[in-house]
Amino acid sequence: MRKVKWGVVGAGGIADRRTIPGMMLAKNAELVAVMEINMEFAERIRAKYGAKYAYDNALDLINNPEVEAVYVASPVLYHVEPAIAAAKAGKPLLCEKPIAITCEKCKAVIDACHEAKIPAATGFMMRYGAYNMAIKKLIEDGKLGQIVSARSQFTCWYPDIPGAWRQDKAQSGGGALMDLGVHCIDILEYLTGGKTKEVSAFIDTKTFNYNVDDSSSVMIKMDNGVVGYIDNHFNVPDNAARCRLEIYGTKGSVMAENTLGQEDGGRVEVILSEDKEYDANQTRIENQKKDPEFKLNVEFGNMYTREIESFSDSILNGTPVNVPIEDAVHIQSVIEAAYRSSESGKVEKCD
Ligand SMILES: NC(=O)c1ccc[n+]([C@@H]2O[C@H](COP(=O)([O-])OP(=O)(O)OC[C@H]3O[C@@H](n4cnc5c(N)ncnc54)[C@H](O)[C@@H]3O)[C@@H](O)[C@H]2O)c1
Repeated sequence: MRKVKWGVVGAGGIADRRTIPGMMLAKNAELVAVMEINMEFAERIRAKYGAKYAYDNALDLINNPEVEAVYVASPVLYHVEPAIAAAKAGKPLLCEKPIAITCEKCKAVIDACHEAKIPAATGFMMRYGAYNMAIKKLIEDGKLGQIVSARSQFTCWYPDIPGAWRQDKAQSGGGALMDLGVHCIDILEYLTGGKTKEVSAFIDTKTFNYNVDDSSSVMIKMDNGVVGYIDNHFNVPDNAARCRLEIYGTKGSVMAENTLGQEDGGRVEVILSEDKEYDANQTRIENQKKDPEFKLNVEFGNMYTREIESFSDSILNGTPVNVPIEDAVHIQSVIEAAYRSSESGKVEKCD
């Protein structure tokens, strides 16, 4: 099978922790080049994965004729330049989330991709989570009826660390909401098929000393009528949170724990239950026991492999891009509306 030859910009972070190991398992992708901030680091990553080329300059990697597609996984502030350069070189682009620190800068990347007519995707890899794919199908099959509300929660313990780019607004654009919330909003839109139109938020830095948020609670209203609640924290211990995903519909619900993350796994409870009439006695504990258990059929694997295989297939065969980069710009507009709402105390609209 033909393999897309990939070059990775910023290869030593999530690329090394997850995406390159996932790429190594993909049947239609091959790592040929890596770039890091210095040659010693780049060379270490190159040798680890047996890639052909190591660089300390993104443009050199992008201009290597053997590199057919570019994955940008540097800190957020440093996405735009290599992303636009990749587009200008006519190379398909997978750019990590968030694309840029502002919506305006995201749009510059999109414009470059459109102008060059290249396939472009973003790193909302949770769409490829085994449970998330099964939950989406369950909803599309109408098993939960009309979806009325949803919640997604994603947190991590992230204390003050000198020099950490995520803790510096100039480099990250924001904190828990910007870093973790983008996944949560995207997954609620993806699962329910809606697009956020209105946002209300309370965002704060309660615990740590950095200049980005460590606490974020956001409510969204989508064009399909679904109201979503999204909570993201940098100040809740890892083991104290369950990264809950909850979807409620007129015929049942999904309540999941630890399915939002970087690995397939976690726990999902699906309750299919139809009430025909109002029960004034509210005998809900009894009733729940009678609801049949519904098991989701899932096959665990590697969501980064699925992400790379899917986009490589789009590159090779022109299949639709499953996570188009345009979706990331929309999510960024939701994020910006949330920060505005937290300041203004009002419901804000987004694109
Ligand atoms: N989709 C996911 O699963 C996922 C998970 C974590 C992070 N991310 C995203 O990936 C990006 C990187 O996050 P991270 O956690 O890997 O950060 P990180 O700090 O762990 O790694 C970033 C890497 O980029 C390198 N780098 C720094 N400046 C650079 C520059 N100017 N050009 C190229 N490389 C540079 C660093 O040396 C480092 O190795 C962010 O956009 C983040 O939001 C995505």
